[in-house]
Amino acid sequence: MSIPVILDVDTGVDDALAILFAVRHPDIDVLGITCVAGNAPLAQVVDNTLRVLDAAEAPEIPVAAGAVRPLLEPPRSASHVHGADGLGGVALPPTTRRAEPVGAVELMRRLLLEHDEPVTLVALAPQTNLALLLRTYPEVGSRIERIVFMGGSASVGNATAVAEFNVWHDPEAAAIVLDAGVPCYMYGLDVFNHVAIERDVATILEHGDDRLGRVVGALLGHRIALSEDESAEYTGLIGDAGAICAIVDPGALRTQVRPVRVELAGYGRGQTLVDLRRFPGEDVVHGLADEWAEVEIALEVDAERMSRLFLTTLGLGAGADATADAAATAAADLEVER
Ligand code: RIB
Ligand code: CA
Repeated sequence: MSIPVILDVDTGVDDALAILFAVRHPDIDVLGITCVAGNAPLAQVVDNTLRVLDAAEAPEIPVAAGAVRPLLEPPRSASHVHGADGLGGVALPPTTRRAEPVGAVELMRRLLLEHDEPVTLVALAPQTNLALLLRTYPEVGSRIERIVFMGGSASVGNATAVAEFNVWHDPEAAAIVLDAGVPCYMYGLDVFNHVAIERDVATILEHGDDRLGRVVGALLGHRIALSEDESAEYTGLIGDAGAICAIVDPGALRTQVRPVRVELAGYGRGQTLVDLRRFPGEDVVHGLADEWAEVEIALEVDAERMSRLFLTTLGLGAGADATADAAATAAADLEVER
């Protein structure tokens, strides 16, 4: 089973992990990657994406630059999370790969029309490119199997108390995508925040013999500048990579199809409102419930199963087992010596 996908990214530490996973997983066929401003400015996102493809020893995969900013909002990069370079300071070698001479919307349209079966769009970033595609060429909707997006939340926010970064960064774009009539799968913070690699494993990978393991370990170990407490800085989240894992192993998640809309006004701007009620309320009874999109929402995840899938796909599963055991032995030895 090979699933054709187009990735839309704002590479980004966790976008990098997602690209590495997608390129390496045998059931994923990456037709192309489109870039958008988000975690970092667009030019940096493109350069990071090309370098990550080198790190993955990926075949030639077309990469195109898209929107330099959201539809309405100014660009607001997440350098406090992903660092000034967007890759958490993980220095990947310069690349000879080059972006396509066409823009993201044109590349997505070409790949969707050329492919012999519908393609899964995987949005791991603000959805500006997808909104522009669907507004410019609405007819490509029939060529899209579904949109799997990392974004939103049925609970806690991150960019604000209630809004997740990708949707908050370009809420109009997210609203346009949900309104386009294409089946959507939301891999939001409800699951995104729970899939992490243990700090010991990341540290040992970073200093191990495996070249890719060193890159993955360094990316996992990047520090979030905001927190004051040193121990709080390590997250180890596989982040966007989880959305790709959800495509190849949907059984690792519990989902529900629920009404969703994007709040566009007030402090809640960028929040994904997810209707989890068992019964309709007065809004429905009195005809006040306007258009909501029916979206498959990932609500729970088997984090250990997904972390294992991530590491084994990158050829790091055995290493992680061995390294974790080695870490435990080393720690025990140290305890003995003290
Ligand atoms: O909220 C997390 C999302 O925002 C991830 O996709 C991360 O890469 C940033 O784009
Ligand atoms: Ca991202």
